[in-house]
Amino acid sequence: MSERRGAVRGPVGPTTGDGERSALPAHGLPADRVLAEVRALRTADRATHGGRLFAYVYDPAVPGLDDLAAAAHAASAHVNGLDPTAFPSLLTMENALVGAAARLLGGGPGTTAPDVVGSVTSGGTESLVLAVKAARDARSDVAAPRLLVPVTAHAAFAKAAHYLRLALDTVPVSPRTLRPDPADVAAAIRPETVLVACSAPSYAHGVVDPVGAVAAVAAQRGVRCHVDACFGGWTLPYLRRLGAPVPPFDFGVDGVTSISVDLHKYAYAPKGVSVLLHRDAALRAPQYFAFAGWPGYTMVNPVISSTRSGGPIAAAYATLRHLGDDGYLALAERTRTAVAGLADAVRGVDGLRLLAEPESTVVCFTSTDPEVDLFTLVDELTARGWHTQPQFRYGDLPASVHLTVTAAVAPTVPAFGPDLADAVAATRAAGPVRLPADLLALVGTLTPDALTPDLLAGLAAGLGLGGDAGGAGPVLPERMATVNTLLDAAPPALRERLLAGFVGLLQRPTY
Ligand SMILES: Cc1ncc(COP(=O)(O)O)c(C=O)c1O
Repeated sequence: MSERRGAVRGPVGPTTGDGERSALPAHGLPADRVLAEVRALRTADRATHGGRLFAYVYDPAVPGLDDLAAAAHAASAHVNGLDPTAFPSLLTMENALVGAAARLLGGGPGTTAPDVVGSVTSGGTESLVLAVKAARDARSDVAAPRLLVPVTAHAAFAKAAHYLRLALDTVPVSPRTLRPDPADVAAAIRPETVLVACSAPSYAHGVVDPVGAVAAVAAQRGVRCHVDACFGGWTLPYLRRLGAPVPPFDFGVDGVTSISVDLHKYAYAPKGVSVLLHRDAALRAPQYFAFAGWPGYTMVNPVISSTRSGGPIAAAYATLRHLGDDGYLALAERTRTAVAGLADAVRGVDGLRLLAEPESTVVCFTSTDPEVDLFTLVDELTARGWHTQPQFRYGDLPASVHLTVTAAVAPTVPAFGPDLADAVAATRAAGPVRLPADLLALVGTLTPDALTPDLLAGLAAGLGLGGDAGGAGPVLPERMATVNTLLDAAPPALRERLLAGFVGLLQRPTY
């Protein structure tokens, strides 16, 4: 050993960064300064209120609701859902949330599904992963389990299949109805299929799958059927009460064995809450994980997290109790009016077409004119203060623009139509994005494995995506049309790699 005993090389113990944005400054800072910093950072974000953001955020625009939810969150933030016997408050609130979701979705006392049980999870993805896990673990006889979904099912199913090592089978949807044919679903069920799933409604297009027919073919083959109502499950029952022709999709449908519904979407709770319901406790049992084979506490987890904050649960509980059934009905009415107004705005513009007639809370449109480039249009809308979500082409389905519509949008609808028309005119004037031919050729031929870190960094730099600009935060281009055109041209497997790589470049520690 060449090193002298006791010699010190470099700093000992925890080190602190000395940059302006170090999360661990050498000396703690006053609370008001830290809070001011957080607020200052937030100014770079898209506005979560104001009805101009059509993705990521669900805003009812109810005065005082944010404060109520924040206060409830704070009251329970340090409570740990790991042990419901130590913190019965959480168990009480969880059971109430599950009961409310069950009742809204055709379960509970006096229904054909009186024994519905459930769990509160951290979000839609966790609910779906657990629905898949429960289905997989209920079939220990199947060595190589498979999951069957329409191609329009949320990407979280693919994630569940990936994490849990199931094979993922997909059935196509009609480019006209954007729904799967139940006969295709029936034909795709194999002896190893442990779960069939469908959406009510789908995220991309807001379309309700033929749940009754899909659940029937699944039941006939003795396979569980999950209805992913994460996105719009909370609002569909209210839309139906308002007269919308919502097809049956809940526990009233024979063969539906589980349903997920996110409270942090149309129940308007702060992020971190979804409910996974099962028709009965036996169906739910394989969802649990329990482990006694170590010297510590026996771990019993209904969900993926073990320690979990009571904050989101308390905030959701407060939100539901404050808004109430009548509140949700009123919010659904406002949302429905907004959807109709936005759809009219799209219909009124030459060169655009609704991809689906809106039947829930999504407006999704595509371009019918090669001169109206959707990715440029999205940028033009952004420049006018409207944040929409581009969707890439997939199989027979064209690229489209997605609008998640919430109650907060209602007052802004009259301004949307003229801005949309204006943005389309500007898009036409700009002409479609043209990528350099060599770049297009590269993206068309590159295999994901050939994407080296250097190539990725070069592409990112060429597109204006970068890490930290001298400590000023991640660099993102003002306009995303070029990036989106490139990603749209890439086959899905390459697109996944490119985007994962780009995000990886943005996620770098700051010191
Ligand atoms: C239909 C559907 N399922 C699942 C999810 C995943 O939910 P989360 O983002 O809360 O994990 C979403 C999210 O938009 C969704 O729309």
